[in-house]
Amino acid sequence: MATPIPSPPSVPFLGHVTIIDREVAIYSYNLLAKQYGEIYQLSMMGSKVVVICSQELLHEVSDEKRFRKVPSSALDQVGNAAGEGLFTAHGDNPNWHLTHRILMPALSTMNTRNMFDDMVDIVNQPVQKWERFGPRYKIDPSQDFTALTLEAITFCAMSYRMNTFYVEGVHPFARAMADFLVESGNRALRPGIVQPLMRATNSKYEENIKTMQKYVDDVYNQRKENPTDKKDILNLMMYGKDPKTGERSSEKTIKENLLTFLIAGHETTSGMLTFILYYLLKNPEAMRKLREEVDTMIGSRTMTVDDVHKLPYLIAVMRETLRLGPPAPARGTAPFEDALLKGKYPVAKDGRIYCGIYMVHRDPKVWGEDAEEFRPERMLDGRFEALPPEAWQPFGFGVRACIGRPFAWQEAQITVVYLMQRFTFVMHDPSYDLQLKQTLTIKPHEFFIRTIPRTDRP
Ligand code: HEM
Repeated sequence: MATPIPSPPSVPFLGHVTIIDREVAIYSYNLLAKQYGEIYQLSMMGSKVVVICSQELLHEVSDEKRFRKVPSSALDQVGNAAGEGLFTAHGDNPNWHLTHRILMPALSTMNTRNMFDDMVDIVNQPVQKWERFGPRYKIDPSQDFTALTLEAITFCAMSYRMNTFYVEGVHPFARAMADFLVESGNRALRPGIVQPLMRATNSKYEENIKTMQKYVDDVYNQRKENPTDKKDILNLMMYGKDPKTGERSSEKTIKENLLTFLIAGHETTSGMLTFILYYLLKNPEAMRKLREEVDTMIGSRTMTVDDVHKLPYLIAVMRETLRLGPPAPARGTAPFEDALLKGKYPVAKDGRIYCGIYMVHRDPKVWGEDAEEFRPERMLDGRFEALPPEAWQPFGFGVRACIGRPFAWQEAQITVVYLMQRFTFVMHDPSYDLQLKQTLTIKPHEFFIRTIPRTDRP
């Protein structure tokens, strides 16, 4: 027996667009979850979206026999630059299958270990910068982590240096990408008839796409002109063959995926690193335990690739950070056929479902009444493994889950260890409380720190 899905009051034509915060949409989705519970329905300029907010519902829609990825409307707009790249491709796109089969093995945990030295090379850049600047300098960790992660993805995956730490302010690629993502999000909430009238905004958008594509062309052309036998992702994209069909990717597909890796591969990890610092600074006991673990297991010697498995508390901190601050706060899905969620909530075939990962990660049925508190202990001693299915899903699900998860994981582990070994941290403004910035991803906004080089290293 179908039960209507609750829905807030709406206005004609625009539907619920006006009740969604334009700066940080996830605030509104979260607030609505508090009012309407685990499921509610919105109408965004004529198209219906069902929002799900509980572990039980996320588990149900993670059944790949019944549901498939449908990019959210904001992600769909990202396709204006990334085309049919891995991230933005719809369901059955043949180029997605081709690229996925070629690249999957290269991004396994085993292969990511081979990138360890290159990652350390990059992590050293912000470490040296913060050491040079000293304790009085106001640091924007989000900006420096964005530089780190952009440099890491280009260097480790493409053997290309953006030299992000050697430009004044924000790197032109990172700036163009951030503006492009903000406008992609805005477009998703804007009536179609208004878009052509926004000439200045549209031409800036096109300009940002061109700026990003210029870097992609440069990465591609440099490799074409200077071939190497390095087994990096770029070589695989350009020369790898599909193990199933023997087919190779076209130049268009390669470039779309290069841009995809640049977009998907750095904002998210930089958000994660910034959230880690924020939560550790707000929770001194967790910071103390983590430092103790790093001091005991590694001390002041140089970290090796084998150390990454010896730090359970660090893993718990990373998991708990991604729970409260999932950089990708939502993902989109749709049923292959008419569906009744929980046997009662009707969703039509192809009807869009917004999986509110941010809200699922706060589901009180799973995480308890203190769900908003940062407690890495929730993730220790078998408790993570004992969680109900899909209670923690920051990297997406199934075949369309994040292909860069081992990369992001190792990059974050190295970064946090290097930082813990060398610095103690303080908030620039001790009264700061988390505010979010949302583009396609979320991260702490206006969060500044100071770093004090350690004199008590073991
Ligand atoms: C897909 C999260 C880092 C490349 C995804 C998805 C999520 C996600 C949630 C699925 C999106 C959807 O269903 O619409 C994250 C988080 C990261 C991270 C939280 C860091 C903490 C990375 C890195 C790379 C990367 C470092 C590249 C090396 C991709 C790609 C896809 C993807 C290419 C599309 C996969 C496909 O559909 O085949 N990521 N990601 N991500 N991610 Fe990540």
